[in-house]
Amino acid sequence: MTVRTTADLALESVTVVHGTGAARTTVLDSLDLSFSPGRLTALVGPSGSGKSTLLAVAGALLRPASGRVLLGGEDVVPLSDARRACVRRERIGYMFQSGNLLPGLTALDQVLAIGHLNGRRVSGLRDAAAAALESVGLAHRAGHRPEQLSGGERQRVALARALVLEPAVLLVDEPTAAVDRSQAAGLAALLGDAVRGRGRTAVVATHDPAVVEAADEVVDMAALAGGQRPRP
Ligand SMILES: Nc1ncnc2c1ncn2[C@@H]1O[C@H](COP(=O)(O)OP(=O)(O)OP(=O)(O)O)[C@@H](O)[C@H]1O
Ligand SMILES: [Mg+2]
Repeated sequence: MTVRTTADLALESVTVVHGTGAARTTVLDSLDLSFSPGRLTALVGPSGSGKSTLLAVAGALLRPASGRVLLGGEDVVPLSDARRACVRRERIGYMFQSGNLLPGLTALDQVLAIGHLNGRRVSGLRDAAAAALESVGLAHRAGHRPEQLSGGERQRVALARALVLEPAVLLVDEPTAAVDRSQAAGLAALLGDAVRGRGRTAVVATHDPAVVEAADEVVDMAALAGGQRPRP
């Protein structure tokens, strides 16, 4: 018998078509993929190969034209928009290329704000937010605002924010694209730490060899016909 956890993520025969008329493009074509809890998967492939699209589908931000997106064994594609919003809030953490920190808020408040937006009481979140910042090595920067942080530190705040509600699934899009090379390996290692031994599933779209190096598994969008390649 297969035991599923809430962190199991699988795409079954997923097709995504962007645009209409002459601009109509099939971006993902009957894609089958599964991601394992406790493993960091790097999604690689040329620009335009569909990495961000795949993350959007996996994160219930974009409904595919056809196919199933199984989160903890449940297909989230046919759910109502309201239910999909609940799934996003309760089970998925997102982190994007530029962090999108809110101007004027301290690092601690950035992390607290996401919980607040998701309907949690701020009082109960303070310890979790402080712990999330500490887990990314930024306890000493809790009172700093974005303009007082380096690019790498800003991305670590964004990671703490993505993790504070303990999502089962973490989806990350090009986290090191705007980060100094010297910070990229550290950020990549933190992504690994956020996943391994925590039963969480994480997928990171990247062009960065430092992130690929830190991953347990690599999925190459350009070679998907060949299937998934576990790291030897
Ligand atoms: N909303 C949209 N409407 C039409 N086409 C789109 C839309 N979003 C993405 N595309 C197209 O879908 C394809 C895949 O885009 P996607 O952003 O997923 O690629 P990517 O692998 O993330 O690329 P990059 O490495 O540059 O981030 C591209 O050809 C893109 O132009
Ligand atoms: Mg992209």
